[in-house]
Amino acid sequence: MDNFVFQNPTKIIFGRGVEADVGDEAAKYAKKILLHYGGGSIKNSGLYRRITASLTKSGIEYMELSGVKPNPRLSLVREGIGLCRKNGLGFILAVGGGSVIDSAKAIGIGVPYEGDVWDFYCGKADPKETLPVGTVLTIPAAGSEMSCGSVITKEEGLLKRPCNSTMLYPKFSFLNPETAFTLPKYQVGCGIADIMAHLMERYFTNTKHVELIDRLIEACLKTVIQNASKIMDKKDDYDAWAEVMWSGTVAHNDLLSTGREGDWASHNMEHELSAIYDIAHGAGLSIVFPAWMQYVYKHDVSRFAQFAVRVFNVEHTFFDPEEAAREGIRRLKAFFSLLGLPVSLKDAGIGGERLSEMADKATEGGAASQGFFVKLNRQDVYNIFVSAQ
Ligand code: NZQ
Ligand code: ZN
Repeated sequence: MDNFVFQNPTKIIFGRGVEADVGDEAAKYAKKILLHYGGGSIKNSGLYRRITASLTKSGIEYMELSGVKPNPRLSLVREGIGLCRKNGLGFILAVGGGSVIDSAKAIGIGVPYEGDVWDFYCGKADPKETLPVGTVLTIPAAGSEMSCGSVITKEEGLLKRPCNSTMLYPKFSFLNPETAFTLPKYQVGCGIADIMAHLMERYFTNTKHVELIDRLIEACLKTVIQNASKIMDKKDDYDAWAEVMWSGTVAHNDLLSTGREGDWASHNMEHELSAIYDIAHGAGLSIVFPAWMQYVYKHDVSRFAQFAVRVFNVEHTFFDPEEAAREGIRRLKAFFSLLGLPVSLKDAGIGGERLSEMADKATEGGAASQGFFVKLNRQDVYNIFVSAQ
């Protein structure tokens, strides 16, 4: 196990109806805030009404910035920065999924910064301060509600890039599993795939003697798989959503990164897909992750066999562990299909025209590699995209 420091400062308020207290929690930071949300789901579900009632009750004045799109755009972030500066807003409340939360985080670090906020996403600068951000989560998926990351898409050049910084931890996140009842089935599937991908990015490691975290990741994966099926049958199954929502947060709050190196090649390759084709992040992952697994499993057959046996109940063929490893990948793919997700580029209506361009973008034209479990060069990345067709 590697040495590590683990500190996650985000306060989680979890359960039925908890968002009624969001005003009191936000009031600890400012009395004039930005309320940031997406395309309308929170109005249709009644959540918007409950949030604004709570803010008003706590004496909070709020300005609104809606219209965050999945794969959140830099232009709206810039608008939010301007709005906060002009009106002296001291806090940002994000109500929505990963896209809204990531957009709020970007606005937060952009407000006190003199340069261009994109500097933080292209590696030119590290954020040193931020407006505080709080969240009310509506979809278990990205884990941004307790993560130190934000992913933004720059429209010019179609670049989707992450920023990671301790500045990006939300001050608090409200998690009410009931808010997920209104999710369309496709978004449920995308969220599940993303949660599983966060777990698997951490699982496939070269670090030895990491048994506790291996077991915790397996527990999370099994919990998500079992409860996803319940949700697919009954979309207002509170107990199943509670399991999935908490797993989604735990999957990405870095507890499960402790003492080990993660991989992250699949995530970075997926960002090239969603940047160009505006595909949902989870749907991009259900295409890329199995293709990546198929490409690298021979690097550590035992680890892949362990995954297959412990997570997907594959019978261990002691004399042919490779077969167990491959069966695990097949079962993962079958599970994604069952969730209604694409498992090939063709399934998502994506042709082969821009695979080379994506491989270039993911590796800075071949100058950089991707991943840690296996270091992938530009040709490897290209080969994986080709095999995902
Ligand atoms: O915009 P609205 O109308 O709210 O609709 C959203 C959106 O269309 C809808 N939705 C959300 N909650 C709903 C709902 N519809 C009905 N009922 C509800 N309760 O779902 C759609 C997708 O929302 P989005 O926020 O895009 O989903 P998700 O949470 O999957 O976020 C994806 C983004 O997060 C980034 C991804 O790259 C992607 O841009 N990620 C962020 C990470 C982080 N900050 O730590 C890590 C992840 O790996 C990921 O990269
Ligand atoms: Zn993800």
